Amino acid sequence: MKYELCPSILSADFNCLGEQLKTIENANVKYLHIDVMDGMFVPNISFGMPVIKSIRKESEMIFDTHLMVQDPERYIDEFVACGSDSITIHVEACKDCKKTLQRIKAAGVCAGVSIKPGTSVDEIRDLLGLVDLVLVMTVEPGFGGQKYMDSCTAKIEELRRLANENSYTYDIQVDGGINEETIETVVKAGANLIVAGSAVFKGDLTENIDSLYRLINKNAQ
Ligand code: DX5
Ligand code: ZN
Repeated sequence: MKYELCPSILSADFNCLGEQLKTIENANVKYLHIDVMDGMFVPNISFGMPVIKSIRKESEMIFDTHLMVQDPERYIDEFVACGSDSITIHVEACKDCKKTLQRIKAAGVCAGVSIKPGTSVDEIRDLLGLVDLVLVMTVEPGFGGQKYMDSCTAKIEELRRLANENSYTYDIQVDGGINEETIETVVKAGANLIVAGSAVFKGDLTENIDSLYRLINKNAQ
């Protein structure tokens, strides 16, 4: 199973975003986590298609777009067209989640479903055979720099157990409050794609990435 760090550009310095993307790509990062917020599904607004389009030209990384957007089915075509390689939607934000996920897959892009801390795995059980990725939010979505919610660890373990028992092939991604103190917990619990914003972009990017990857690889199963 692959284990990858997915730096979230929500915590990047947009004054020098291109430079920072080059730095993380040179540090052997493969996934770029792009947190799109609409001010409706979550109480914050981040960025959208124009930012993705402009960085697409400069980067070979896998663009992992996380839509914290109400009724995301309205924007699938646009987020595919601007360069997303993977699109994750929230089950809490969709009228027909299964249909929207099928639409993402039909566009030739990896399809992910995300659950907020208060949403149980039961809400997405019927989607697990369809999705390429399950994103377990380990903070309330909306802002970087929050504290990891320990109550979410059991959901990661449950999703890994379900994958093993049913030969599901989805990646398990975690997002929110992941740093040197919490990263080993989530890898041991079964997560293999690790989103980190503040832990990557605050301080020396290369040093942060190297240290987080050391902890991931130490606990990889
Ligand atoms: C929450 C955001 C954050 C961000 C990661 O909606 O999705 O979780 O990606 O931020 P940190 O790693 O600083 O918690
Ligand atoms: Zn995210």
